[in-house]
Amino acid sequence: MSTAETLARALTRARDRTLALVDFDDTELHRQYDPLMSPLVWDLAHIGQQEELWLLRDGNPARPGLLAADVEGLYDAFTHSRASRVSLPLLAPDEARKYCATVRSKVFDALEGLPDEDGFEFALVLSHEHQHDETMLQALNLRTGAPLLGPGASLPAGRPGLAGTSVLVPAGEFVLGVDATGDFAEPFALDNERPAHRVDVPAFRIGRVPVTNREWREFIDDGGYRHPTWWTERGWEHAVAAGLTAPQFWNPDHTSRIRFGRNEDLLDDEPVQHVSYFEAQAYARWAGARLPTEIEWEKACAWDPATGVRRRYPWGSREPTAELANLGGAALRPAPVGAYPAGASAFRVEQMLGDVWEWTSSPLRPWPGFAPMIYQRYSQPFFGGDYRVLRGGSWAVAGEILRPSFRNWDHPYRRQIFAGVRLAWDV
Ligand code: AVJ
Ligand code: FE
Repeated sequence: MSTAETLARALTRARDRTLALVDFDDTELHRQYDPLMSPLVWDLAHIGQQEELWLLRDGNPARPGLLAADVEGLYDAFTHSRASRVSLPLLAPDEARKYCATVRSKVFDALEGLPDEDGFEFALVLSHEHQHDETMLQALNLRTGAPLLGPGASLPAGRPGLAGTSVLVPAGEFVLGVDATGDFAEPFALDNERPAHRVDVPAFRIGRVPVTNREWREFIDDGGYRHPTWWTERGWEHAVAAGLTAPQFWNPDHTSRIRFGRNEDLLDDEPVQHVSYFEAQAYARWAGARLPTEIEWEKACAWDPATGVRRRYPWGSREPTAELANLGGAALRPAPVGAYPAGASAFRVEQMLGDVWEWTSSPLRPWPGFAPMIYQRYSQPFFGGDYRVLRGGSWAVAGEILRPSFRNWDHPYRRQIFAGVRLAWDV
């Protein structure tokens, strides 16, 4: 299949997913479920607006587009905070759907005859749409009222004996990041993943699987949220001010939780979700561990020490499937630990892609030699800000936009994201 055809199909899959996430009545789409999130109708039109800007107007907002300038301005994420979007005169859902469809049909025209070595901007727009789909899932998870979504697709069973275990990643150089071409080519990788460069990493141990709900409950029962001992000063200040006593969405009994509006038992062997960086840090210290750096994380995920090359995915070069990782959003939850033995990395680390985003101790910084892509404000404005990097993607991430080099970030106090924890240790 040509690059153009592959991208066209991927864009259609993303759009099907988006439209399913906004297949609700107008009142619903205009609701603000939480000040942290946009109303769903904002995400919808913003997806179309960004697609038009990057693919039909060369990224130049001065070039006339389909929307009047004042309407287009409503979808600028830098001008309007999420909390304020609910009170903007947004396009009605049907107008937004129509606008997105018009843009898309022009984009398909632009895709015709695309040379096989091109397509980066299309892949960027694909990634953007899928990232907003995950954001919309975060919004829907915060929604109160009778559930709109089903319980989620079924997942493979876990394997016992893995929680709390770790592997050694010996000291040595590896190649961090990727390039557009050459030995470490990922032509569709985003700007913050580049360039590839050698980094020497001291030996460390890393958890074979993410931390589970059962392990987190032990932390709670041991007074984890009641004593400042395990917390950093800033983390404890936040925990007290926010009144934290357990992960978000856990009920006070600590045996059940709310997920997409459904009350259900907390599964012991499922990776813990909806914890902030501050909580992750406190848990790690309590467990006699620490969080991995994002560099350690990427080495454990992608490096093959036997051949001295990066793997495309932890398990090798095959595209992700339902036997390899929990991705794509259908499950609406992480899989129990041990569910993906075939998805293990060269170092035998499991569930690195999919399930839960994993907090790392790294602030978001550019790799040496960073150059911004056409969407110049995707990464650059956030470098050096109050963010920590998350790695590996969650169950809500589309496999086709995810790579071991993919970097996500958020404020250290956020926990509506589908984030959990993997531990690391000095050796
Ligand atoms: C990379 C997930 C932090 O949601 O703010 C979407 C992705 N950037 N539109 C975000 C993004 C512009 C971004 N994250
Ligand atoms: Fe966006």
